[in-house]
Amino acid sequence: MSGKSDPKTGTGDGSEGLRRGLTNYGDLGFSLFLRKAFIKGAGYSDDALERPVVGIINTGSAYNPCHGNAPQLIEAVRRGVMLSGALPMEFPTISIGESFANPTSMYLRNLMSMDTEEMIRAQPMDAVVMLGGCDKTVPAQLMGAASAGIPAIQLVSGAMLTGAHRGERVGACTDCRRFWGRYRAEEIDEQEISEVNNSLVASVGFCSVMGTASTMACLAEGLGMIPFGGATAPAVTADRIRIAERTGVLAVELITRKLTPDRIMTAGAFENALRVLLAIGGSTNGIIHLTAIAGRLGLRIDLDRLDAIGRETPVLIDLKPSGQYYMEDFHRAGGVPTLLRELRPLLNLDVMTVTGRTLGEEIDGSAAPFPQDVVRPMAKPIYPQGGIAVLRGNMAPRGAIIKQSAASPTLMEHEGRALVFENVEDMARRIDDDALDVSAGDILVLKNIGPAGAPGMPEAGYLPIPKKLARRGVTDMVRISDGRMSGTAAGTIVLHVTPEAAIGGPFAFVETGDRIRLSVRERSISLLVSEAVLARRATEKRIAPPTAERGYRKLFLESITQADEGVDFDFLRAANFR
Ligand code: FES
Repeated sequence: MSGKSDPKTGTGDGSEGLRRGLTNYGDLGFSLFLRKAFIKGAGYSDDALERPVVGIINTGSAYNPCHGNAPQLIEAVRRGVMLSGALPMEFPTISIGESFANPTSMYLRNLMSMDTEEMIRAQPMDAVVMLGGCDKTVPAQLMGAASAGIPAIQLVSGAMLTGAHRGERVGACTDCRRFWGRYRAEEIDEQEISEVNNSLVASVGFCSVMGTASTMACLAEGLGMIPFGGATAPAVTADRIRIAERTGVLAVELITRKLTPDRIMTAGAFENALRVLLAIGGSTNGIIHLTAIAGRLGLRIDLDRLDAIGRETPVLIDLKPSGQYYMEDFHRAGGVPTLLRELRPLLNLDVMTVTGRTLGEEIDGSAAPFPQDVVRPMAKPIYPQGGIAVLRGNMAPRGAIIKQSAASPTLMEHEGRALVFENVEDMARRIDDDALDVSAGDILVLKNIGPAGAPGMPEAGYLPIPKKLARRGVTDMVRISDGRMSGTAAGTIVLHVTPEAAIGGPFAFVETGDRIRLSVRERSISLLVSEAVLARRATEKRIAPPTAERGYRKLFLESITQADEGVDFDFLRAANFR
């Protein structure tokens, strides 16, 4: 960008700078005069104030160590913006740290997306850089940016480093769950579990496995909203800071190119992102988030299409929880570009990215491949199909999913007796009771953890193995819920049963002792109970969806959509979906 915009029109280089969205005092000249008077109180010159403006969303928070490097990254973004002749303006929005959000971070995702959208719209900026990282932050920001409609670019904080426990490499949070499972099974004692607690998270940054945060970073790059090669650099590296500087430069270029999110996040780009999700063995949460982002742009993510793509897209990334490595290894192996090179024949190459080049141009211009063993070639996949399969049946007429790449092969075709927990509290009360009537072949069912149920669809779908079975060495069972699970978890776990129990979906009427059949091969999840019996149970139970008296919870419960609609608020989706 050449520098200043025309001071009279403010639009000489495609920007309006500080003149955008003037506060309404009934006199536009006075509004601008007043705005400049106040900002000059912070020491800005007229020269600075005539420049195009790049907003930078700072989600640094003491409650969010996944964004603990925000100060360094913001400084680098500012440098990039100023090197390109524009004015950086940093501002805060809600920040959500996964393990600090009650009842669950997903409950707050839509609130963060509204904050993002409205503060982008309310304040004068010609483009915006969004700093996210922890699980729900990147989807919230992409949803908000899609709705706000000005040029936007995603930056992520980067993955944390791995640590070591007694000589073994560990990282959050697949190893958190593994060690906690060993502690529950009484294989390790109090002292060791507290040592592990000190080692799992070796630095600031987001979880170091292919959990939801890493998944969303890779998907944002696959969508074209993160510059090519910008997803995987760990949080505390020079690479991460250079990416931040480049993001600032690109944000200014987006202004002249008038490259808005709807021109980048097209139907073709979402299909590419689905391929990336499947090929990385990514978090199941990625489907819900992509559906919500697409819904803001009037685009639909079709679960049957996802399943069809999955049958021709193998898992290529050898990262936990499906494989063995961590994000820092993926970055050393070339990151997402290495994967996209491999997936090239399956991708829509003509889609635009934030660099102003198409995905095909980016792939063709990328560095030459080199020997590495984190990203497998198509001929030697980690898993022959995509990581996620879509299931349907009388329990889940609008779909359910299973992360087949992280499931036990012996349980993927399984029929068993249902052991039902009506809600999380019921499960917490009974699961470790030695008197619990349970055997390894049973199917654990947890209801009422869907979008409206808990509320916020908590990541409670990873039901623990009952202690009495864990002690006997049982490490996996078929588990079914209408909730989600962390992207860092593994097991034969059916999730997102839709419609959920709390609004009276058929899942509400499963009872202990019923037979359930799971067939991943046939893509089915069936309750082996007659329609007549289910209808009688529905009449007897008469389920009333949950309500709330006031505040955000009231808005949430009155507006929340189901998993197949992205768990977005109905009034935030694009006009064609309302
Ligand atoms: Fe923030 Fe895992 S807790 S990414």
